[in-house]
Parts: sequence; structure tokens; C-alpha cells
Amino acid sequence: MQTNFLIIGSGISGLNFALHAAKKGEVILVTKKKLIDSNTNYAQGGIAAVLDKTDSPVQHIKDTLEAGAYHNNKKAVEFMVKNSPEAIYRLIDLGVAFEKENEKLKLTQEGGHHHKRIAYVGDYTGQEIERILVKRVKEHVNITILENTFALNLLTKDHTCFGAQIIRKNKIDNIFADQTILATGGLGQVFSNTTNPAIATGDGLSMAYRSGAKIEDIEFIQFHPSALAKKTSPRFLISETVRGEGAHLINNKGERFMNDRHPLKELAPRSIVAREIFKELKKGPVYLDITHQPKEFLKKRFPKIFEKLSKYGIDMSKNLIPITPAAHYSCGGIKTDIYGQTNIKNLFAFGEVACTGVHGANRLASNSLLEALVFSNQITKKLKAQKKLQVLTIDRLKILPKNSPETILAKKLHKEIQTLMWQYAGITRNREQIEKIAIPRLQEILKKLTQIQGTNQILAETINIAQAGLLILKAADLRKKSLGCHYIE
Ligand code: FAD
Ligand code: SIN
Repeated sequence: MQTNFLIIGSGISGLNFALHAAKKGEVILVTKKKLIDSNTNYAQGGIAAVLDKTDSPVQHIKDTLEAGAYHNNKKAVEFMVKNSPEAIYRLIDLGVAFEKENEKLKLTQEGGHHHKRIAYVGDYTGQEIERILVKRVKEHVNITILENTFALNLLTKDHTCFGAQIIRKNKIDNIFADQTILATGGLGQVFSNTTNPAIATGDGLSMAYRSGAKIEDIEFIQFHPSALAKKTSPRFLISETVRGEGAHLINNKGERFMNDRHPLKELAPRSIVAREIFKELKKGPVYLDITHQPKEFLKKRFPKIFEKLSKYGIDMSKNLIPITPAAHYSCGGIKTDIYGQTNIKNLFAFGEVACTGVHGANRLASNSLLEALVFSNQITKKLKAQKKLQVLTIDRLKILPKNSPETILAKKLHKEIQTLMWQYAGITRNREQIEKIAIPRLQEILKKLTQIQGTNQILAETINIAQAGLLILKAADLRKKSLGCHYIE
């Protein structure tokens, strides 16, 4: 197969970029499950933007830099904030119906923001954005969609990208492209506790690294303070907007412990709140308490969360919600400029897999959908389809059956990596343990996995989380002082 633009991933950045690219040439969009399977589809809180007359770009920039511990690329932050209103209006034009009041966008607040500036749709903003973008992409004649298609490796030679090797219908194939775009999202599945769905295995990051792409700030993994902590439940996210609407954090003694830990209390930057919860969890359970809000308000404002909690026997208008921090977002990634250009010719990256530098050492809430959108709007500025394909010969790898001993081993190691990463690269880190225990063991695992003859998606994803994990550990080891969400014990 051959195309002008090969886009890997169908979250907000891949879908949005596809709509722009389709105006310039032919697009093939591949995604490893169904189109809607993405982190985007899980986003609850909303998108940050300067949309209110009493707010200002200066304040949004300030909040972003403060959350990012001033490790951010200031130019990229200014670019994102400047383009934030336009990005929201684009979504509205495409059909996203953000909440309104008296014909004006209704805005909410989250941790680290000094102003109400989050546009939202109930507590399912991402699902609504994904639904609209999928609809628009499906309507476009220039876009070919390949679902259940797994990108295995990039096809690169002499620091130039020519497309990707894929697994589709149990066969390995090549897709050649003038431009290859990684929009593969995050890597939450590297950790045993995560808010991310199963697709988030760091594939794009690992593929790009194997091809020689520069990786930046990957030690900065953001842990969301409030995921549901029920033994039988996945780590379902309880949006920060629940705190934005007044929820308190309560320890096992019933104390509102954030009162004396930060001036913004429950709405302090995420890394601080997550760490304080982590400390309290050593003494006993931690809860969110929003029982002071009426049931009807909560059902209307947080319909999905209300419903989900009810399934686990929690009525949020009457009961405390047990919570724990969980791996949520990768602030770093493949280094790009503001046009998504990586250091590999014809290879671009957008969204969570990319590191534009806007988040610095810790992302400000709801800046992620914004970043993914603003930067993937950038095609008109620099990308040009060029027909200079060179056909490369590739190794024909054997596909391993799902029940093969190699696949069973990969599944076992997958779990071991997640547990190891949570223990050694989680909310608090110890460099000696990283050097002496975590890095050597993960190197051993990666070696074992890469020596296996043949491949399949399960094995490839396990190799990718091992590779991503190793990159995180090595970067964490190099950063000797605590900064943002990288916290040394
Ligand atoms: P994604 O939306 O994750 O899409 C990645 C795509 O790549 C998927 O389609 C995936 O299947 C595909 N893919 C991956 N690897 C391969 C491969 N090897 N081959 C083929 N396809 C592949 N951010 C905010 O700003 N506001 C919020 O309110 C918010 N809430 C969140 C709530 C939750 C529970 C989570 C998990 C995240 C939240 N975030 C939020 C973060 C935000 O959702 C993500 O950072 C953002 O959606 C990432 O978009 P993306 O396009 O980069 O990647
Ligand atoms: C949330 O709703 O708490 C998540 C927001 C985000 O990750 O930006």
C-alpha cells in the first residue's frame, strides 16, 4: 500500500490531522482497535482555553508554566495559548456541542488554574469530541480507515521515514507514505495502576526510539490524584472537575488534609495533590467527599461518573468515594517542533506521544486535549506531500499464534513490568533502587523479549512497554533533583 499521509492513531490528534491532510492528498489512517478506542474517548474534564473576557492569555501561560515547574518551552506554551480559542471554535464548527449558559460557553475550573477556563461536555468531553471527529473522518473521501491494524515498526533509512510495517488480518505488510504521522497517544499501561485504557502501551514512543528519534522529558509521568480505589474495579477516573465543583479530600480521620498543604487546597497542581494523597494512603484510605452537593445537581453535572459509581454501590451524593493516584499522562515524548516535525525526515508526531515542551515537568489539567488539537492543526504551515518513495526490502517476520509459549511468556512479563514500574518509577522514586534493581531487571526482560523469533501484537506491545519503561527509568535516574511530577524520595 502507498499513500501521501500515513496517520497512526485515531484519537483527537490523529483524527484532527487527518481532516487537514485530506485537503492536500490521500490519507491512510490506521488504528489498532476500533476508531473510538483511544485515551481521547475517556477524557472527562474538558479543554482549557482563554474564552472569557475576564481571563487572559498571560494568566493561562502563567498557570501552565507554574504547573510545569518552569521547565516548559515558553515559546510553545505561548503558541498553544494564543491559538486556544481558535481551536475550540474549530471543534464547535465541526459539531462539538460544549455546555452553554445564556448563549455563552459554560466554563469550569480544575487544579492549578487561577480562572474558570475549561470548556466541557458533561463529564464525557472526550467521548463527544471523538464521536464528532470520527463522524467527520468517515465522511471524507480522501481518508481510508484501517481498523484493527497494528503499527509494528517504522520504515526508516538514513534518518528518513518511508512509512510503517503493520500487522493486519494476521499478516505483516508495509504501508509506504510521503509523510508518516505518529498520533499513538500515551503509555499509562506501563504502570500497574493507570487511568488509561488498554491501547496506551507506548507503541509510538518505542517505535520512534528504535528508529533514532529524540525522546525528551520522559521521566515526567503525571499521576492523577483521583482514580477509583475499589479492589474489584479498574482505576476509573473521578474527574478533577469533581473537586472543581467543591469536593473535599478526606483522610481516614475525616480531616480535610489539603487545607494546610497548599494555598489552592484540593485544587493545587496535580503532582502535589497526588503526593499528599499517597502519603495519607500509608496511614489509611483517602476519600473524595461531595456529599454536600444535591443529588440532582451531581447526576446532571457528572452523569457518567454518577452512573459508574452507582454500579460499584457508591451513591456520590451520600457516600464517600475511595480514591488512589494512578498513572495518567506522559508529559514528555518524541521531541518535535511546533509543526510536529521530529528529528527524522518525513516523520511527525502529535498529541500525547509528542513532546512539544508545553507541559514542562508537569501538565496543567485540560491542557492535553488542547495541545493535541492546536499542534495537529499545523499542517498548512509546513507539511507538503512529496512523491519520492523508495521501496525498502523488509524482513518477513513470522506471526506467533496467540496461545504460543512465547505469547504466554510475554503476557507474564507484561504484568511484571507494570508492577516493577509502579514500585520504582511511581509517585516517589529512589535513584539507588532504580539503578540497582529496576534498570537491570527491565534490561533483562527486554533482552529476553527481543530474542524471541517471530512477533504478534501481544509480544510487540510488551516489548514497547518494556522499552518505554526503560526510557522512563533511565531519564529518572539522570534527573538527580525532584522537579514537577518527578519526585525523588
Ligand atoms: P489517543 O487519544 O490516546 O489516541 C491514540 C490512538 O493511537 C488510539 O486510537 C490507539 O488505538 C492508536 N494506537 C496506539 N498505538 C498504535 C499502534 N501501534 N498501531 C495502531 N494504532 C495505535 N486531557 C485533557 O486535556 N482533558 C481531560 O479532561 C482529560 N481527561 C482524561 C481522562 C482520562 C481517563 C484519560 C486517560 C486521559 C485524559 N486526558 C485529558 C488526557 C487526554 O485524553 C489525552 O492526552 C489525549 O486524548 C491524547 O490524544 P492523542 O490523540 O494523542 O492519543
Ligand atoms: C480530569 O477530568 O480530571 C482529567 C483532566 C485532565 O487529565 O486534564
